[in-house]
Amino acid sequence: MNTKTGLLRLPLYTGLILLCHSSVIFKLYSQQASNASLKETFAADFLIGTALNSRQIKATDGAELQLIQGQFNAATPENLMKAQLLQPQWNRYEFEEADRFIAFATKHNMKINGHALIWHSQLPRFMQQMEDVDSVRQYFVRHIRTVAGRYDGKVDSWDVVNEALNEDGSLRNSIFLRVLGEDYIVEAFRLAQEAAPNTKLYYNDYNIEQPRKRAGAIALIKKIQAAGVRIDGVGIQGHWHVGRVPMEHIEQSIRAFSALGVEVMFTELDLSVLPNPLGGNTAEVSRTAKYNKQLNPYPDGMPDSVQRAQAQAYEELFRLFLKYREEVTRITLWGVHDGQSWLNNWPVRGRTNYPLLFDRQMVPKTAFYQVLKSKSPGN
Ligand code: G3I
Repeated sequence: MNTKTGLLRLPLYTGLILLCHSSVIFKLYSQQASNASLKETFAADFLIGTALNSRQIKATDGAELQLIQGQFNAATPENLMKAQLLQPQWNRYEFEEADRFIAFATKHNMKINGHALIWHSQLPRFMQQMEDVDSVRQYFVRHIRTVAGRYDGKVDSWDVVNEALNEDGSLRNSIFLRVLGEDYIVEAFRLAQEAAPNTKLYYNDYNIEQPRKRAGAIALIKKIQAAGVRIDGVGIQGHWHVGRVPMEHIEQSIRAFSALGVEVMFTELDLSVLPNPLGGNTAEVSRTAKYNKQLNPYPDGMPDSVQRAQAQAYEELFRLFLKYREEVTRITLWGVHDGQSWLNNWPVRGRTNYPLLFDRQMVPKTAFYQVLKSKSPGN
């Protein structure tokens, strides 16, 4: 063998051996990681939740059920405990789906967060035209008593009031504010406390990490506490965009809310990767935009660069959550996998978004592995 080529070959062989070796290591790592479980990885830190829909709670086998069982230890019904579905007609309740959801979550040892008792959106149709004080008050009192009472001891917590604030921190002009006046939120918590003494009671909203809206939420929580009424926690929804996750505001909010003596949770986490025609982070479902191709740039798959940017954003978030593991009690992703996400149809119908940790085939994404990495020693 000629010395020159021999010398050249040596690094080539070493390189090849290293390459094979590292691909074996990578394979082993991903095999290990794909057996890894979010709920087990973060068991000592916080609950890991997901939002479930009617179809998912009927599953008796399959990849989706495996994912739900293996990855999550908390569940929120994505829609099926909203007032529109629980009380479709005046004083006529339909509990079948909600009961099925509770049976499913209980069977799979998941903590259950009821969602939501009082929310201006997805109200029963009969409520949408109602403006007279007596009827609205009757609905308000009876809905909370009936629903919170029925599920006391069966759900662990309720989002008692959802999305009551405007972006500037003032109270949203909802039917409840207009008709019942600004004390309606304290009243909702008082009624829930009476009907559900064994259930934790939360306020839930989007963008309350933003300073002005956060100030509104703090004022709300203080008002409830000053009235001697119980509020156990606050849910920051967490509908954000890759590249625009407000890390500083999130950290300030964890500190500010926990200083009030309540649990802090991230209750509807997803990180959109699509252009946002509405500008800024929002989850205001009444605002929508028209479809065009530019708004749907990745119909056939998520480019690697986008995968990586999203994974990075998720990892940073989970590092922050871990830093506040004493204050943060639950992280719920708003859906099990990308195919289920509401963000495929909002604010623009018919797009292909990729906001969660599992893809449409239920396969863990780069973001899943990087979330696990946030927990590795030294972090
Ligand atoms: O059930 C009907 C079905 O009968 C009909 O054929 C179909 C046609 O569009 O609509 C179905 O209802 C849809 C419903 O989800 C159930 O799938 C509604 O159109 C759709 O608007 C509704 O969207 C839900 C949205 O809340 C409504 O406000 C999303 O799934 C749900 O993820 C989303 O969740 C909210 C949280 O509750 C509160 N925070 C914001 C979050 C995202 O909007």
